[in-house]
Amino acid sequence: MTFTAAIQAHNLCFGFPNGGTILQSCSLEVPKGEFWMLLGTNGSGKSTLLRLLAGLLTAQSGEIQISPTVGFVFQNPDHQLVMPTVGADVAFGLVQEKLSVLEIRQRVEEALSAVNLLAFQRRPIYALSGGQKQRVAIAGAIARHCDVLLLDEPTALLDPDSQLELVAQVQALVASRGLTALWVTHRLEELEYCDGAFLLEQGTVVDRGDPNRLRNRLMQMEALEP
Ligand SMILES: Nc1ncnc2c1ncn2[C@@H]1O[C@H](COP(=O)(O)OP(=O)(O)OP(=O)(O)O)[C@@H](O)[C@H]1O
Ligand SMILES: [Mg+2]
Repeated sequence: MTFTAAIQAHNLCFGFPNGGTILQSCSLEVPKGEFWMLLGTNGSGKSTLLRLLAGLLTAQSGEIQISPTVGFVFQNPDHQLVMPTVGADVAFGLVQEKLSVLEIRQRVEEALSAVNLLAFQRRPIYALSGGQKQRVAIAGAIARHCDVLLLDEPTALLDPDSQLELVAQVQALVASRGLTALWVTHRLEELEYCDGAFLLEQGTVVDRGDPNRLRNRLMQMEALEP
């Protein structure tokens, strides 16, 4: 059987100038068309790893293979949404691509339908809930025809209902559109929605695989904490 990974990192090493080593011998691979999560304690290097995968930072050594069209969703959507309305924000990334007005309109409508926000196209961004803003950010990636989504704690600022709605939506998008997603989280209840998970400790992936097994391991670790 051939294994096709949409996201592959091998032996990454990274440190900030004047900082210590943040990632060392860090490897992971996410199979194409699957939804994986990345877990780890504060400061273990999750956001740094995601930024390296997205090409926002460059590793000192190691290799990355990833689709050229990557969408990134940040913890706080207010750092990401730049236009005054939902439709304009989703169109923003397309304007640079020199697409026709008709093509842009079709892509925006299709992407907003995919996240159930078509009726919100003219809504000002300030009049959205946190979960709706995250769905606008995801629609932006879908409109650009990204086939990989990297999401850095996208539910951290959401209430429990919006949290589970968003994670279920990403699970459904991955299944229906053949996307590949890597989702950073601290919230173990989200593991139920993914195909597999990685555990990062001090900059190295120390465990990977079945989300239920990883959840049990983490719950046991938490129970042992003083
Ligand atoms: N710009 C920077 N310059 C120097 N050190 C940094 C910088 N950004 C992050 N770090 C350090 O790198 C380490 C890893 O940070 P990172 O943000 O990747 O962790 P994380 O696993 O995402 O943590 P959290 O769960 O708190 O989001 C931390 O020790 C952090 O202090
Ligand atoms: Mg982080």
